[in-house]
Amino acid sequence: MATIVGGITTSHVPAIGRAIARDLQADPYWKPFFDGFPPVHAWLDRVKPDVAVVIYNDHGLNFFLDKMPTFSVGAAPEYRNADEGWGIPVVPPFKGELDLSWHLIESLIGEDFDLTTCQEMLVDHAFTLPMAMLWPGQDAWPVTTVPVCINTVQFPLPSAARCYKLGQAIGRAINSWDADKRVVVIGTGGLSHQLDGERAGFINKDFDLQFMESLVSDPAWATKYSITDLVELTGTQGVELLMWLATRGALTGTVKKVHANYHIPISNTAGGLLVLENQA
Ligand code: DHB
Ligand code: FE
Repeated sequence: MATIVGGITTSHVPAIGRAIARDLQADPYWKPFFDGFPPVHAWLDRVKPDVAVVIYNDHGLNFFLDKMPTFSVGAAPEYRNADEGWGIPVVPPFKGELDLSWHLIESLIGEDFDLTTCQEMLVDHAFTLPMAMLWPGQDAWPVTTVPVCINTVQFPLPSAARCYKLGQAIGRAINSWDADKRVVVIGTGGLSHQLDGERAGFINKDFDLQFMESLVSDPAWATKYSITDLVELTGTQGVELLMWLATRGALTGTVKKVHANYHIPISNTAGGLLVLENQA
């Protein structure tokens, strides 16, 4: 059976893509953010995942407002990126892990999660940038992938409790995948940020740090909040923290904190990073 080695949760601001393309990692603005990653690279070298299940929110590249699935899972042999208009380079395609995609889809629908199955899927900055931060300077990505999308773009959004349960079901599905593979779960989004409206630039450090701590010691803590509470507490785009909650839900074993980083701001966003190891 497959093994879940752990979870990595991180922010996914488009400006990171421009910083990587321009080699600005040591620039004073970027250094405190990129300095968070070497310990994650060391951990990845140690746990050596074969497959990444990437939980993220598409921002309009694959799904637009006319058709917006609440939950969707990729089942394609390959996932391509495309120009989203942020001025970030398009990256090489990602190889899909088809067998896990279909196993995940069967298991989740078997547990009454009504998914959209995508046999074609473009992946946006929320997928590609975390991959580039975790495996920098690669010509070919060292893991195969399964994209899982949660709608945080168009209301109504799924509740925090529902996303946590989705994560738990993803964890059960990976654990029952009949393959001798090591799987890392990656969740991208957040932490607090609001890109537009009267509260543009809103960041809530106290909440972010409490949320990060809760994922270690009290993982269901954030499920007590409604979506409106979360928007108020973390900003309209801060609700992307749902990806972190789903990722934590997927860690079904004993969880140990390996590394964390928090830096504000990156563009308009609180840049968070957390690595949790999972022991079966
Ligand atoms: C920013 C943050 C995001 O999560 C995103 O998807 C786009 C932009 C930002 O802070 O610039
Ligand atoms: Fe985003």
